[in-house]
Amino acid sequence: MWNVSLIPDQASTTARRVDALFLFDLGALVFFTGLVVVLILGFLIRYRQSAKVNRADPPRTSVKLEILWIGTPLALGMTMFTWGFIAYYHQYSPPADATDIYVVGKRWMWKLQHPEGKSEISELHVPVGQAVRLVMTSEDVIHSFFVPAFRIKQDVLPGRYTEMWFRPTKAGRFHLFCAEFCGTNHSRMVGSVVVQTPEDYARWLSSGVGSASMARQGEELFVRYHCMGCHGASQMVRAPRLEGVYGSRVPIQEGSAIRFVTADDRYIRDSILLPKSQVAAGYEPVMPSFQGQIAEADLLKIIEYIKSLGAKGTDR
Ligand code: CUA
Repeated sequence: MWNVSLIPDQASTTARRVDALFLFDLGALVFFTGLVVVLILGFLIRYRQSAKVNRADPPRTSVKLEILWIGTPLALGMTMFTWGFIAYYHQYSPPADATDIYVVGKRWMWKLQHPEGKSEISELHVPVGQAVRLVMTSEDVIHSFFVPAFRIKQDVLPGRYTEMWFRPTKAGRFHLFCAEFCGTNHSRMVGSVVVQTPEDYARWLSSGVGSASMARQGEELFVRYHCMGCHGASQMVRAPRLEGVYGSRVPIQEGSAIRFVTADDRYIRDSILLPKSQVAAGYEPVMPSFQGQIAEADLLKIIEYIKSLGAKGTDR
């Protein structure tokens, strides 16, 4: 019955950071609340009506006291802000060794796709110690991906990608919740994150029916939607080649000016769905929009395929 602890299960590097800050804030709060209570009670007793104390000429000003009660909250506030800022920045900067896992929210389930090809519903397997970057989108309404034991939560929005990362520190099964009201069965949009040892994870990844990697599946879609016709190897005139484009700086024609943007997940998604919004410099705006024709999960596979054609800095 008394299975209650001040700090819930702590299962990621982020959880440690968040908890340290939380305990510091809580400690400061408890200390100063206690101090105020003690001072009130102390003065109540010391200066009660019947007490024999000198009440003549009480002090009206004290520079030292002013400095103390302006300086202390200022220092405390700045410490909390700086600490919080560092933790926030850390939470939004995935490390270079992070592997990508793709998440599609849908009333009322989570679809999770590993680059190796395996996909899951409302259950996510990850190896302990491995940083994981989640690239997330929704097929319908706003959801929110929340893993309390990792202290991470991020809204999942239709029509765009949001990302979040974590590095699990211990094996086990942890709750996954949808933390944004999304309709009748919102409360049932639950699942779990299963953190395994690297050996168990490798075994899990290779178990069951083998499916092609995401990039391979993306390549098939690339052919099926006739992308090859313009982006293929022999067609350099109508459309830019996509080898090495992922992560590179791409020149975009904007009126008579040229603007450079980074070709990330969002850029590729927009190029497929809203091609007129960002036309590569030197090309005619002839690409048709695929809005409403490609499912979110398939878009992610195409992105993974384009990514596999070489990222910035890799020789191909
Ligand atoms: Cu999905 Cu609430």
